[in-house]
Amino acid sequence: MRYPAPIDPNLAASLIKQGEVVALPTETVFGLAGDIFDEKAIRQIFEVKGRPLIDPLIVHCLDLDQVSLCTAAPLESFKALAEAFWPGPLTVVLPKRECISDLITAQLPGVALRIPAQNEFREVLRLVGNPLAAPSANPFGYISPTRWNHVRDSFGGRIPVVNGAPTKHGIESSVLSLMNPQNPRLLRPGPITREQLEDVLKCPVEQPNQQEANSRGSQEAPGMLHKHYSPTTKLVPFEEQTTVASDKESALVLLRRPRSPEGFPTGSKQTFWLSESGDLEEVARNLFHLLRKLDDGRWKQIFVELPPPEGIGVALRDRILRAR
Ligand code: TXA
Ligand code: MG
Repeated sequence: MRYPAPIDPNLAASLIKQGEVVALPTETVFGLAGDIFDEKAIRQIFEVKGRPLIDPLIVHCLDLDQVSLCTAAPLESFKALAEAFWPGPLTVVLPKRECISDLITAQLPGVALRIPAQNEFREVLRLVGNPLAAPSANPFGYISPTRWNHVRDSFGGRIPVVNGAPTKHGIESSVLSLMNPQNPRLLRPGPITREQLEDVLKCPVEQPNQQEANSRGSQEAPGMLHKHYSPTTKLVPFEEQTTVASDKESALVLLRRPRSPEGFPTGSKQTFWLSESGDLEEVARNLFHLLRKLDDGRWKQIFVELPPPEGIGVALRDRILRAR
């Protein structure tokens, strides 16, 4: 194990300047970061993750100057969004400039951009001086990391990781395409909801459903097509409490602490909950951590309760349904 303990932002920046990839915390999930102008580092990101080259990377910028370095779109076309949500958990796909390599965008005409809020990530951006490309720091297809030790455990300590508190939102950013400014499309639901985006844009935001995304082929948001975020153990989402089997080999994940007597085996070793009160922000913070903890071979299947499709519940349903 080369990196049994977390490293600090100074060392992270100097490693990145030497062309290495480093895992960094963001306010959503940890990212596996490399300098966007270092072709070798970008290739290494794909290699470390085992990610196919058709799945493009998000470019993380310190500020709007760096954003303008990456996109040819006029600031006016996304200024309202930037003022409302950056720094924060929103990624916007905009027409790319020539300096952004096709490797980063997987040959697509757009580049996905985001200004993260996390202090440690911003410190590294400042020290490096260039934007950083970073997908979630998990092996391709596995659950995104929300704590530094998730990254260490997934890669056996081979990858240097900067620590940060457990990530604030706990799920990946919302991805909005402005490739057609008249027709904004929410490619991936996340902590910033479609309603919030519509309020700022003052126009409807389309949310392609899975079927539509598939019929458009891999052109728009390749990463959306795969089964994603999955534990190794079989995951079974449920809506109706009555459909859940209560055998000893199944773990039961609820949104809130059950109020007994309610049919659930409260306090039993097989019942878990993501929030005391069912608060969906808290559910989001805990979801990936709990799924990783339960994915240790103890359970034959993990039943997970689906939240209502409101607020961040839309994104949570997306992640849970994709994890099947
Ligand atoms: O919260 C997050 O977004 C985290 C942190 C590290 O920033 N990153 C993340 O990256 O989740 P990743 O690579 O796991 O997912 C990014 C997704 C891609 O799978 C793809 O669907 C979409 O964003 N995407 C990236 N670049 C794109 C592009 N040029 N055009 C369309 N979609 C793009
Ligand atoms: Mg990912």
